[in-house]
Amino acid sequence: MYLSDLAPWTESGSLDTVASGPVAPLPPSSLNVGGVPQDAPALVHSGRGSVWSCASCHGDQGEGAGITPRLAGLPQDYLTKQLHDFASGERLNESMHYVASKLQQKDITELAAYYASMPIPELTLPPSDADLARGRNLFENGDWKQNVPACISCHGSQGEGVGAAFPPLAAQQPEYLFSQLAAWKGGHRHNSPQDLMDDIASRLSYEDLYAVSYYAASLPRSERNVRVSANLEDTDGTE
Ligand code: HEC
Ligand code: HEC
Repeated sequence: MYLSDLAPWTESGSLDTVASGPVAPLPPSSLNVGGVPQDAPALVHSGRGSVWSCASCHGDQGEGAGITPRLAGLPQDYLTKQLHDFASGERLNESMHYVASKLQQKDITELAAYYASMPIPELTLPPSDADLARGRNLFENGDWKQNVPACISCHGSQGEGVGAAFPPLAAQQPEYLFSQLAAWKGGHRHNSPQDLMDDIASRLSYEDLYAVSYYAASLPRSERNVRVSANLEDTDGTE
């Protein structure tokens, strides 16, 4: 089987909901998908006992830095999955395991809704010697000789992400993207469905992973999160 067969393009119509063009930002009150995040701001900014403040590492705007990811504007269900994976040890990271294993289900729901509704901060790409032309080629075309599908076939034509399962890469921290690809290649991250990312990352060299990370990070942030919230409201949350 080709990895590209697992791309979301193959499900008829699944892209309609995310390809519908720009949508005006919603008023803050309508962004509280899945319950009003009441405890989330306190957890994010002050923490609670052994739940360290998220902002102390992820930044006040959820912007991330270096190998700590931006959380602002990531899809709510993707955030929920990652917090469960850290808590269960399915995804390995000592700090995040410590934090996530002390969260209750209600906290996870609220934190995911909170970060999903935050606007995506602009990213200034740090200087690097990454080969952006090579990164772009991989991102848009993949490398068929090595059975590496194009990143856009799952992560969206602008790296804006697709649905809840395929996270955005555009305007994510480049060092973080690289650290995750290196973790998959080195066998340290295992939590992608059907080992999709393990296979892709292990077929590419570290130079290529670095190039594609910086290229993806350089893509403009999108208003995808706002669009997803709007769709959820349209369909009564039955998406
Ligand atoms: C001590 C620093 C630290 C604290 C505190 C922290 N994080 Fe993290 N977080 C990280 C690092 C580092 C990673 C990247 C882990 C990896 O490499 O897999 C991460 C990853 C994540 C991810 C995965 C994002 C993705 O794109 O896959 C989520 C979700 C997350 N953190 C949520 C939270 C929440 C919610 C809190 C507060 C309850 C929190 N974090 C507190 C350091 C921290
Ligand atoms: C066949 C579908 C598919 C293709 C093609 C694909 N990905 Fe992914 N990718 C995924 C899925 C699914 C996840 C989420 C894994 C999870 O749930 O933890 C993911 C996650 C990621 C993440 C982690 C993001 C985060 O916030 O932690 C990075 C980085 C990434 N992919 C980079 C790439 C790059 C670069 C390419 C092209 C070389 C690529 N992907 C091609 C399916 C794909």
